[in-house]
Amino acid sequence: MIDIKNLTVNYEKKTALKNFSLSIKENEIVAIVGESGSGKTTVLRTILNILPQNSQIISGKIYFQNKSLLDLNLNDWQNLRGNEIAIIFQDTGNMLNPVRTIGSQFIEYIKAHSKLSKKEALNLSKQMLKKMNLQNVENILKSYPFELSGGQCQRIGIAMAMTFKPKLLLADEPTSALDANTQAQIVQELLKLHDEYKTTILMITHNLAVANYMADRILIMKDGEIIDFVDKNKLFNSKNEYTKELINSIPNLKGKRYV
Ligand SMILES: Nc1ncnc2c1ncn2[C@@H]1O[C@H](COP(=O)(O)OP(=O)(O)OP(=O)(O)O)[C@@H](O)[C@H]1O
Ligand SMILES: [Mg+2]
Repeated sequence: MIDIKNLTVNYEKKTALKNFSLSIKENEIVAIVGESGSGKTTVLRTILNILPQNSQIISGKIYFQNKSLLDLNLNDWQNLRGNEIAIIFQDTGNMLNPVRTIGSQFIEYIKAHSKLSKKEALNLSKQMLKKMNLQNVENILKSYPFELSGGQCQRIGIAMAMTFKPKLLLADEPTSALDANTQAQIVQELLKLHDEYKTTILMITHNLAVANYMADRILIMKDGEIIDFVDKNKLFNSKNEYTKELINSIPNLKGKRYV
């Protein structure tokens, strides 16, 4: 469903992705792990066409459902982003506008991506928040981001991202800012949505146990390249030296299941 071919991306003169290729099948969950600066976020930014000004795509192609993403115009992106490809970030609380209620931001998001009326948008936002197991949805809609917990904000971020049943969900460390308990709950919510909507997921996580548990395939990145691919539940058996090093650098996670 998405096919990235020989992608090279620079920031100024520095190469962040080197000849990066990755194919993801429909309904698959793929996790990217790798040390800080290895290029993980750059992969997601390039897919969604949200690279910063100082970046440059040197070469490569990205096909999403047979459309060449790097050749789309702004109008095409307007239709695609949010509707067919959506993204969740590490810290939704910081992404939300602090001086506006959740309700007004959620409704604005829905109206920006659809032709629904305000009332329909309100109903849809309630429905999505309930789907994310948030209690007291009416209160949440009236709240400001600072009045909510990190876990609640993250559920709101996922609810927004999933509103239009995107075919591809990109997630950049969606659970990293949360405590272990909330992290485990959010992982379960994501898996439930994946089951229900058949959404393909490409996620970045620092948590090797989460990657091992959730993903059908895990790719290990280093210096802008993929250096190891492992299947679900096989991360801790990888023979790759670098992968072993990465696992050993996080001793308390080794082999343990956190979810
Ligand atoms: N806006 C930018 N300007 C210049 N260099 C950048 C910019 N964004 C990222 N880089 C550089 O590109 C490389 C890849 O960054 P990227 O954010 O993709 O890494 P990452 O794997 O997501 O790291 P982290 O785990 O810390 O989020 C790094 O060397 C980083 O310093
Ligand atoms: Mg990153």
